[in-house]
Amino acid sequence: MKKGNMLYEGKAKKVFETDSPELLIVSYKDDATAFNGLKKGTIAGKGVINNKMSNALMRILQNNGIPTHYVEELNDRDTLVRKVRIVPLEVIVRNVAAGSFAKNYGVTEGVVFPEPTIELTYKNDALGDPLLNEYHALALNLATREELDAIKNYAFRINEILKTFWISRGVTLVDFKLEFGKLPDGSIVLADEISPDTCRLWDSATGKKLDKDRFRRDLGGVEDAYREIMDRLKQKTEAEE
Ligand code: TMP
Ligand code: ASP
Repeated sequence: MKKGNMLYEGKAKKVFETDSPELLIVSYKDDATAFNGLKKGTIAGKGVINNKMSNALMRILQNNGIPTHYVEELNDRDTLVRKVRIVPLEVIVRNVAAGSFAKNYGVTEGVVFPEPTIELTYKNDALGDPLLNEYHALALNLATREELDAIKNYAFRINEILKTFWISRGVTLVDFKLEFGKLPDGSIVLADEISPDTCRLWDSATGKKLDKDRFRRDLGGVEDAYREIMDRLKQKTEAEE
């Protein structure tokens, strides 16, 4: 499949047309931003890691019955995906208090929730991706009640699959952000990426942050952390050997 015209350049990826109207190529960049683009930088090798990690996790999710946009990894940075209409919601699932949850609600980072929790933000850079509830999403016509139910159901199932995967590699899945899209037949599929840019991943033994918080918070060792989490992903567990 050949890259056609570039349709869109985002903060971390470019999107290209292909010969097929139903397929797109996403190309992962090393560019990193934080705080709605206010902080900019480069994380050498990030594009390759995010591409490969996201694809590996999407394949696992697909094998577990979660529909995704993933079709085929084309090379280190490029992946063929199904074209979807993105539902303009960021769906955040959390297992442990961190980031904006810890700040907004005055909870110490690291407090484990009695059960996973979910929140929605309106995917709108101009407004700074504000938090909203399901009734707001309905009022704004961002999704239907049925679509919201499907999205929540998938998000919690994805959390269980990914939590189990990471814990077998000594990593705690603290929280993550998902985006969903609609296929031409109206069905909902997981889209965008699942990577250290979009997840908080802490070493279960030491608590070391192995994700983009190292960049957001100027913790140093950013490239090393991305390499380390990719090594963990590839690590075979005893059950798999
Ligand atoms: P938060 O605690 O800053 O709201 O972030 C929650 C999760 O969502 C965290 O794993 C990082 C991810 N995230 C994104 O993928 N994109 C974003 O723009 C933001 C703010 C967070
Ligand atoms: N999406 C955020 C930004 O714009 C990045 C983040 O904090 O993950 O820059």
